[in-house]
Amino acid sequence: MNKILIFDTTLRDGEQCPGASLNPAQKLEIARQLDLLGVDIIEAGFPVSSPGDFESVKLVAKKVRGPVISGLARAVRKDIETCAEAIAPAARKRIHTFIATSDIHLKYKLKKSREDVLDITREAVRYARNLCDDVEFSAEDAARSDIDYLCRVVETAVKAGAATINIPDTVGYTVPDEFSNIIKTLLEKVPLLDRVVLSVHCHNDLGLAVSNSISAIINGARQVECTINGIGERAGNASLEEIVMILRTRRAFFRRFNIEPPSVDARQIYKTSRMVSHLTGLAVQPNKAIVGANAFAHEAGIHQDGVLKKRLTYEIMTPQSVGIPSSNIVLGKHSGRHAFSKRLGEMGFSVRSSLVDSLFREFKALTDKKKYVFDEDIISLVEERTTKKHKFFSMAGFRVTTGTSLTPDATVKLHVRQPGSQRTVTLQESASGDGPVDAAFKAADKIVAKCLKWKSHPKLIDYSIRSVTIGKDAQGEVSLKVRYGGDIWTGRGTSTDILEGSIKSYIDVLNKIVQPVAEKNRIKQRCRCRTDAGQ
Ligand code: KIV
Ligand code: ZN
Repeated sequence: MNKILIFDTTLRDGEQCPGASLNPAQKLEIARQLDLLGVDIIEAGFPVSSPGDFESVKLVAKKVRGPVISGLARAVRKDIETCAEAIAPAARKRIHTFIATSDIHLKYKLKKSREDVLDITREAVRYARNLCDDVEFSAEDAARSDIDYLCRVVETAVKAGAATINIPDTVGYTVPDEFSNIIKTLLEKVPLLDRVVLSVHCHNDLGLAVSNSISAIINGARQVECTINGIGERAGNASLEEIVMILRTRRAFFRRFNIEPPSVDARQIYKTSRMVSHLTGLAVQPNKAIVGANAFAHEAGIHQDGVLKKRLTYEIMTPQSVGIPSSNIVLGKHSGRHAFSKRLGEMGFSVRSSLVDSLFREFKALTDKKKYVFDEDIISLVEERTTKKHKFFSMAGFRVTTGTSLTPDATVKLHVRQPGSQRTVTLQESASGDGPVDAAFKAADKIVAKCLKWKSHPKLIDYSIRSVTIGKDAQGEVSLKVRYGGDIWTGRGTSTDILEGSIKSYIDVLNKIVQPVAEKNRIKQRCRCRTDAGQ
């Protein structure tokens, strides 16, 4: 039997999704969760692309010991050397080098001949092999490449020492039958592929990333590159949770092709999906397979009736199998610390005792605002709490006035943390606006302007709110997108009060924007002046 290897690229291709940028601590948090999930390889980043990405790859390589840690490098010496340095601390490491092979890319992007690209492939793979035993080679835009030429490139890479050959559908252009033929032809025409792992990497521009990956597996691919929630460049990458659950749910079908599902702990899927969504700020669409809010909801009466009689009538897998908590009322006002801590454990969170204490205090505060506390509420508390340590700004309080014939205005108070320490200063500002949310965001902008030089204020381009659980007292989760400095940034915030949730989501976005500046200590200097001046 052939076990399928899961190569997770959430931290590299997934992070290329507009607005999804993650700092090193957040990448480490996701990488640790991917380790718990049991993926085989983590692509932690593209080290040469920025100092932050270099740091992230190095941190993950140092701290995450289960999976192979891979870094991406173009087929140039500088990239390969930087990648080797970043992954050096890993117990098991891989350099993933790539060059485009389609005539379109050769002519317009690389301005190189086919012979040039063959030479570069040989040279890059050999060079990478001198620095690392495990080298993967990708033929970018393989799916639109001339198949005979692709065979020559692949053969060259294997001869030069690549242990994994990856065939990307970079622009999500192929259809399953066509992609299967590419895989079959490669396996027929390049006998040396017997020695290595054949991998696929599909994008979702036509919504076929998962279908193409599965067709490739049936025809001989043994590694799939994918991301949590299918996030990634443009329309995204093949979704990890869908691939894993297809291979598990249809185990008997795949056995006919001698294929065994990956050794992933599927019960960690939901938690990983929530974490990625929370830290990237990219909401999961409700009808998303496996992890969407409606994935296991039966609405039609006839379906509900069937499920009540026998789940198998309309349910092909259980929510529990992917770690989705049953939405039972779990705890309330009278629940004690012991019950709360036990529930955290049952939900798969291993939280140290001091953190349980502060989470319990927040849980108690929540029970004052809402009668029933659901599993989803507890997940939101943990997510908010565990990411607090990375934040420069956090909410200290707010007040809003609004009404039919009033100009809405808001006062916002924020704690501003000093980089490298736990010391904070508290700053307050007021502003009026087109509505209470606008007024509050403007007040927060004024606080940021006190702390550092702003080019311009972030421009809000998208705002949405959804309820985390059911009931009038449910928590609202606000997601927003802003444009700042030519980039798109996302933020999230949760509260039983939608204005508080809105301000928290704006603070989340501000934290992401100011992080690079704050790390250069500018916040520290400016805020210290103000503290010393008695503010
Ligand atoms: O889509 C693509 O071709 C890639 C490669 C770098 C593997 O992401
Ligand atoms: Zn890609």
